[in-house]
Amino acid sequence: MTDSGATVLPGLAEIADVGRDHVRGGYTRHLLDDAERTLRDWFVERATRLGLDVEVDRNGNTWAWWGAPGPDAFVTGSHLDSVPGGGAFDGPLGVVSALDAVARLQAEGHRPSRPTAIAVFAEEEGSRFGVACLGSRLLSGAISPARALALTDADGTSLEAVLASAGIDPSGVGADPDRLSGIGTFVELHVEQGRGLVDLGAPVALASSILGHGRWRFRFTGQGNHAGATLMADRRDPMVAAAAVIAGIPSLARQHGDARATVGRLRSVPGGTNVIASAVEFWLDARAGDDAVTQTVVAEITATARAAATANGGDVEVTEESWSARVDFPDGPRTAIDRVLVGAGGRPVPVLPTGAGHDAGVLSAHVPSAMLFVRNPTGVSHAPEEWSDVDDCAAGVDALTRVMRELT
Ligand code: HGY
Ligand code: MN
Ligand code: MN
Repeated sequence: MTDSGATVLPGLAEIADVGRDHVRGGYTRHLLDDAERTLRDWFVERATRLGLDVEVDRNGNTWAWWGAPGPDAFVTGSHLDSVPGGGAFDGPLGVVSALDAVARLQAEGHRPSRPTAIAVFAEEEGSRFGVACLGSRLLSGAISPARALALTDADGTSLEAVLASAGIDPSGVGADPDRLSGIGTFVELHVEQGRGLVDLGAPVALASSILGHGRWRFRFTGQGNHAGATLMADRRDPMVAAAAVIAGIPSLARQHGDARATVGRLRSVPGGTNVIASAVEFWLDARAGDDAVTQTVVAEITATARAAATANGGDVEVTEESWSARVDFPDGPRTAIDRVLVGAGGRPVPVLPTGAGHDAGVLSAHVPSAMLFVRNPTGVSHAPEEWSDVDDCAAGVDALTRVMRELT
């Protein structure tokens, strides 16, 4: 609790009612839906109030410049979109902390010695169009414009149409090498998605690595039919095949070290209570410290899927929708940040791996990047219980402020 009695950072309080999901709980803020547009407007207003020059790049990412853009820029930021029913901190904490750090530095009369910006990346969760970190992938050329523009959301609306409706020219999306090469250092502050800091009794950590992670769509087909008029022996029910595969995933993943395999999203077509499905789709999220292990887990699940489909007289189609290779953050930026934070007489900053993907992971292939994690006492993320105590959030802002002061 801060002196003022606040339980969350003021910036988070300002957006606390934007995109609340009264069905799922938590927040649902997807790329360019009403909630995310409100958050975009909120960010532009907050950044403009700080005298920053705001622009939206060709890929829908927002940049707020403190001074003129230029080479060797120091960039911090994160994302404002969420998973369905997500928490309040995943993404917004990094954006609010960046705004607060700039405000603190301005108040003390700091003038950056290098171009400095806050970036808000589009579609980091990939919750609307299925590809994680879509905005930073487009920026870095990690996905082709053609593939990205053809992506569709659950309603069948294409990214192309969504961008056009938001006034972003779809024909302009794609790699932005000048913008990317202009970034000298990228630092993303993010709520920790795990209990590492809780167990260490520290408020802030640096990131060492990000698990490789990907998303695969499994589409089982069979014969739709009447639930009452069709004898059990006469069925080719894709739900039975899908269910058998899903039931076997936890024990399969446990045989592969630190691998994680999750099915959190499933769709039955046509989805009638008294109808045998004609098709069932589920999406697999698989991750491991070693990319080869992730690929092995996916291959084994694919083999069980093919066997289950055949046993049920149907078929299955497996499609990789998103892949992010393991990321090991470079020592350079992390050491520079550690020197700044420890230099303040503090204890050495813990260094933690993460199982969650981030735009900093995508950018790290091109730009010296680092992440700061802020303690989450619940350890829970991608759920309404995600939390970070305001004193820890303030410690995060303090750390980011010190880093920005020293590195700019
Ligand atoms: O899915 C992830 O790991 C991240 O939260 N986008
Ligand atoms: Mn997330
Ligand atoms: Mn995130």
